[in-house]
Amino acid sequence: MKFFVDTADVDAIRELNSLGMVDGVTTNPSLIMKSGRDIKEVTKEICDMIDGPVSAETVALDAEGMVAEGRELAKIAQNITIKVPLTWDGLKACKVLSDEGRMVNVTLCFSANQALLAAKAGATFISPFIGRLDDINLDGMDLIADIRQIYDNYSFKTEILAASIRTVNHMTDAAKIGADVATAPPNVIKAMANHPLTDKGLDGFMKDWAKTGQKIL
Ligand code: E4P
Repeated sequence: MKFFVDTADVDAIRELNSLGMVDGVTTNPSLIMKSGRDIKEVTKEICDMIDGPVSAETVALDAEGMVAEGRELAKIAQNITIKVPLTWDGLKACKVLSDEGRMVNVTLCFSANQALLAAKAGATFISPFIGRLDDINLDGMDLIADIRQIYDNYSFKTEILAASIRTVNHMTDAAKIGADVATAPPNVIKAMANHPLTDKGLDGFMKDWAKTGQKIL
């Protein structure tokens, strides 16, 4: 499973990238707002740092506007993925932009039927939002499993990008189901390294080592 980082925080991206943890980046209008930076400037900085796809989201609500904004965002760098919402106009924009050979990430997906439409419209990525479904007492992972089955049934090339990931268990479950990509906030990716038995074991080793009075260096 590829790891995308869901942030516009360049320092956080840089740290994870130095460990080889970053296959791509996703942003959205809320993350740009949180960064406090200009969308084109911060997106360019991210694109220069990362080899993989960097999603930048359109904000127009009509297809024509999304296409125009998508083309403008695509000028930032070769690895821009244009993000459009899963509305009827978003699907129209997806078709136009994907026919032009551009990468398109269709976002705000909450049903298998929406994912089916995005694949038909030529989406490079479909972004089902796991956490936001969990928030309303549905199981976001059921949606990932349904989309995996449907896409496999018909050999759709669209990649399943598990989004709105909030916990380390979301990462495990997305990987078990076979999501192609998971996009997660930096703190979730870093938390995957944590285990209380690792901390306890290390503590025991350090105490015993101190008793030996030895040094390695
Ligand atoms: C990524 O592409 C999405 O915009 C993001 O994962 C949404 O996450 P949230 O539901 O935590 O805002």
